[in-house]
Amino acid sequence: MKHLYVHIPFCNSICTYCDFVRFVSCNKEKEEYINKIIKQIKQKSKNNIYLTVYIGGGTPNSISDKLLTKLLKCIKKYINKKTEFTIELNPELITPSQASILKKYSVNRVSIGIQSVDSTILKKYNRSGNIEMYEKAIRTIKKTGIVNISCDFIYGFNEGDPEKQIIDDLEFLTKNNINHASFYSLEVKDNSIIAKQNYVIDEKRIDNQLLLIEKIMPKKGFERYEVSSWCKNKKYRSKHNIAYWKMEEWFGIGLGATGFSSKSLLENKGNLKKWETKIKKLNKKECYFYIIMMGLRMIDGIDLKIKNNLLAYKFFKKQLIKTKIENNHLKSTNIDKLNITLLKCLEKVEKE
Ligand SMILES: C[S@@+](CC[C@H](N)C(=O)[O-])C[C@H]1O[C@@H](n2cnc3c(N)ncnc32)[C@H](O)[C@@H]1O
Ligand code: SF4
Repeated sequence: MKHLYVHIPFCNSICTYCDFVRFVSCNKEKEEYINKIIKQIKQKSKNNIYLTVYIGGGTPNSISDKLLTKLLKCIKKYINKKTEFTIELNPELITPSQASILKKYSVNRVSIGIQSVDSTILKKYNRSGNIEMYEKAIRTIKKTGIVNISCDFIYGFNEGDPEKQIIDDLEFLTKNNINHASFYSLEVKDNSIIAKQNYVIDEKRIDNQLLLIEKIMPKKGFERYEVSSWCKNKKYRSKHNIAYWKMEEWFGIGLGATGFSSKSLLENKGNLKKWETKIKKLNKKECYFYIIMMGLRMIDGIDLKIKNNLLAYKFFKKQLIKTKIENNHLKSTNIDKLNITLLKCLEKVEKE
């Protein structure tokens, strides 16, 4: 297996839009959990050297320096100089000592959750810290020599000036010389606090903000390479995420992690003390659907020289509206409305 995802389900506080598996836990719980996943990483990895490793959350940097060191020390055995080694960070928790631990154990890519530079939004959705703190955190990471920094943003919040918000978010990228960014449109998911508050998304606002992102980002030197992902140079593209979109196999370790292997989706479910892997074997039609659903997310599209990709394309040929073939790659002609194509394909999966 070439790819590893490790899930750390701890957070210091809960953002009201969040639906991820996450807990506000005590140190003892964190220590037991980290010990458990270290055991599992060792069992799964054996003599493996991963091409990519991604530690996601929750908030991976909400654990102590001691636990972080223990985890990274374990993973370091299974990587080499070429491995893309990413960790998700909440900016308000980044410290110089934490940053130097990341560097010491060969983390070479960080994904920082900024979400918005608008302090009203941060407060309203229970995000800690402020923008000055976030900028300081980026400087702290850069000082260690880690230059591959991505920032996450969410757009589509109902409050404030929608245009100004986007302009300010994008200005943040320039000001801090960031070379990779992800923009997610706000989703109201079942287990979030806003879902319980019956939050209603304003689709028009989302569309307008996305149009603004699409207009300004290229002017700032960013190229979109996936529905939500932008970077300044191809070398900063997330190799780990590309592996997902190309349906390569990966190990998912920890509660809330998913994996993919032998045409099966592997979902870890349970509680902090005990979780099990639920295996969902995909049949042929479902495999084809996943190839299309994940692959069309990429601007470069799906490589039809690969046998299974070609079979998926042939299977859904009639349903693949709003797509084109270019250089033997199947591409979406309107990536912002990908769902229209996917719904058609899904209908066929469910009907037959
Ligand atoms: C695993 S999550 C959270 C990582 C980190 N704890 C944080 O909050 O920054 C990764 C990203 O998903 C995005 N995200 C989380 N909840 C979302 C939602 N309800 N709608 C859209 N994007 C969301 C955020 O941009 C976030 O940075
Ligand atoms: S958005 Fe991030 S910090 Fe907020 S609760 Fe979810 S995982 Fe934790």
